[in-house]
Amino acid sequence: MSAPIRPQPGILDIALYQGGQSALDGHTAPLKLSSNENPSGPSPAALVAMQGALADSHRYPSTDHASLRAAIAEVRGLDPDRIICGVGSDEIIHLLCQAYVGPGTEVMHTEHGFAMYRISALAAGATPVEVAERNRVVDVDAILARAGADTRLVFIANPANPAGTLLPMEALARLAEGLPDTCLLILDGAYAEFAEGYDGGTALVEARENVVMTRTFSKAYGLGGLRVGYGYAPRAIIDVLNRIRGPFNLSGVALAGAEAAARDVDWVAECIRVNAAERARLTGGLRQLGIGCDDSSANFVLARFANEAEALAADTHLKSRGIIVRHPKNYGFPQALRITVGRPEDNSRVLDALADFKGAA
Ligand SMILES: Cc1ncc(COP(=O)(O)O)c(C=O)c1O
Repeated sequence: MSAPIRPQPGILDIALYQGGQSALDGHTAPLKLSSNENPSGPSPAALVAMQGALADSHRYPSTDHASLRAAIAEVRGLDPDRIICGVGSDEIIHLLCQAYVGPGTEVMHTEHGFAMYRISALAAGATPVEVAERNRVVDVDAILARAGADTRLVFIANPANPAGTLLPMEALARLAEGLPDTCLLILDGAYAEFAEGYDGGTALVEARENVVMTRTFSKAYGLGGLRVGYGYAPRAIIDVLNRIRGPFNLSGVALAGAEAAARDVDWVAECIRVNAAERARLTGGLRQLGIGCDDSSANFVLARFANEAEALAADTHLKSRGIIVRHPKNYGFPQALRITVGRPEDNSRVLDALADFKGAA
């Protein structure tokens, strides 16, 4: 008997991605604040467009996504030829790893970085390298000190998840400038819409050959279930990624919904406005209760408790009130809970429950 078939090196080292919990025993309609979803749901215009597209489901969708890319480019002032659309920004992360790394090369991410960087690196046979952060903020000097001849990709989520902190443009520019020529800097802008005055680093992508930006319709646009994201990169990189992208990776319904959402600028602006106001209220409320909380530039806040035991007790208390948040232990924050900013009444429920928790403690 010959040996059984084995997967490629690295694949069995992958720990399965853990999504936010959505069900709670004893609660038929729990308040889900565990996945940074838009509490307003999708744009009404996107819903209409998706319903319209359903009737064409016997047709294969566009392979070049020209109409969606044109809409994104028009609304955001981008070059449509530098855009690639994917099944969430997850797919863009994956394609970058498939295209640019393999055995003997490194993918760098930071201490509290998003899990998909490591997963996609291992899936491609590369070595993930974790670099320490400084007080929950990405440390540019630590990355530059560690990056070497084998480093090919450096992933930075800005704003960061789960910390919600933001690096200023000058720091990003310094990072892009200081990395070896053989290395790409990926600015993951999954939450960029929520950061005031930040556009995900567009100018850096356009000015340089080694910077890529990833964006998504899953967060501010309320379309996490539709699975649409995109990358913005130098044309040579877009050309490489398109060669390995599935030709029909996005369905007609997904393309129609995302395009309508992109064009519904007033709707998304209102969601971002409400998020900013509620985020400030949630942050202030937590601090008043003596719970540590950095200023967040995203649609969630990281509530820091005295230790893991207190965080777990707070989580249990919230669950007893039908509220699901995220315990980001696997992101290096055992003492914290990540709370998605919900509707005003949701956030009041969270603050009331935590006030009770603190009062009873
Ligand atoms: C930092 C970060 N990047 C990327 C993603 C991927 O999002 P999607 O694949 O839905 O675009 C997420 C989702 O949670 C995220 O938090």
